[in-house]
Amino acid sequence: MRAWLREVLGRRPAWMNALLGFCAYMSFVYMPWDFFVKPVAVDEEVWFGFLLHGWAAKATEPLHWAIYAAGTYGFWRMRPWMWPWAGVYVAQITVATTIWLVLNVGGMRGGLLGAASAVVYGALTIALLRARDHFQPQRRSFRDRFGEWALVTGASSGIGAAFARALAREGHSIVLAARREDRLREVADALSREFGVATRVVPVDLATPAGAAKLAGAVADLEIGVLVNNAGFGHAGRFERAEEARLVEMIQVNCAAPLVLARRLVGPMRTRGRGALLFTGSLAAKQPMPLHATYAASKAFVALLGEALWAELRGSGVEVLVVEPGTTETEFQTVAGEIPHHGETPERVVEVALAALGAQPSVGVGWWRWLRGNLGMRLLPRSLLASVAHAVIERQTPSALR
Ligand SMILES: NC(=O)c1ccc[n+]([C@@H]2O[C@H](COP(=O)([O-])OP(=O)(O)OC[C@H]3O[C@@H](n4cnc5c(N)ncnc54)[C@H](OP(=O)(O)O)[C@@H]3O)[C@@H](O)[C@H]2O)c1
Repeated sequence: MRAWLREVLGRRPAWMNALLGFCAYMSFVYMPWDFFVKPVAVDEEVWFGFLLHGWAAKATEPLHWAIYAAGTYGFWRMRPWMWPWAGVYVAQITVATTIWLVLNVGGMRGGLLGAASAVVYGALTIALLRARDHFQPQRRSFRDRFGEWALVTGASSGIGAAFARALAREGHSIVLAARREDRLREVADALSREFGVATRVVPVDLATPAGAAKLAGAVADLEIGVLVNNAGFGHAGRFERAEEARLVEMIQVNCAAPLVLARRLVGPMRTRGRGALLFTGSLAAKQPMPLHATYAASKAFVALLGEALWAELRGSGVEVLVVEPGTTETEFQTVAGEIPHHGETPERVVEVALAALGAQPSVGVGWWRWLRGNLGMRLLPRSLLASVAHAVIERQTPSALR
């Protein structure tokens, strides 16, 4: 707990921690009380120095609430868009409170209070406008941060191929693993041509119990700084209609192989004091998924494994991230036997993952999915979630498999 607090407070200077605390108080305590409890008759809001009363005040409160919520999130994650907007917002408060005090309090007292407010809020405005670097920390390349080689499983297509490309762009030499050797070679050749990086292709079937150990052996001579545990597949259809062996293979590829690879590669990373473990989980991990029951369960395993390792490895120099995409346009749907439907691009999934690495244990892709995963799926009754998921997935599953 103490280490967590130190890490969280260490992300920004003390005065910004105070602003974070203030925004959090406004978002979670004051604004809910103001909006839901405070009687309309005595409600007041000040906008740009003008005082609103009653329903006019009540109607504008959600906007104030949203601004403080954005401030809480922005300071918590030190988001780049906080510059210059946090400063601009406080500049507006500086002007508004000064006008308000001079006009409404009036006289000598109003003038003195207005001047004091202008100094305090003005200083805060200047501090925020000068704090650009805090919101845009100097970025070191992944290769500098984690070491020369990145190992990507499932690199022959989709999200894995996009990971390989993004990591090659960061200067990593890449080990590409999957079953289809011709596809791996195609991806590897493109990476060498475009980014001039070294590559190694390891054809391997991770559905066999020996597959992950074979892959770990094939890279034993390399310093693997980044492991992307991405290979995986789904299998649409009613549980008892699925071939048992296929479901067991799914557990092997989606759960056992990432576990074995992480287990074997994390020791040397910890010894070197740097490294990154990425897991491709899924939004499916957040809820029961009828007609994809084993797949969702396998991704729940990945989510809990990765998030626990994030905490175990904090402070060791080894970063851990579970990226949890929703529907993404890859070969996944064909392999799973689903009716095709639209989704994110694999490049977007990778961009979100690499931006979140080092900042949080897991990340969803897109605000709507975040809202579904973190609010809807945590708060709604499980029976309702399972029934809604059933109705949605039924539409994506051929009738012969339902
Ligand atoms: N697409 C989505 O909607 C979506 C959403 C959430 C999460 N995900 C997850 O994203 C990850 C990547 O999937 P994708 O969407 O990029 O699908 P994809 O295009 O089908 O890629 C899957 C990759 O896994 C590899 N793979 C499958 N079985 C394997 C085995 N037995 N041994 C070794 N490699 C194997 C495949 O290579 P080979 O066939 O050449 O072996 C391929 O490179 C998976 O973990 C998936 O569960 C996908």
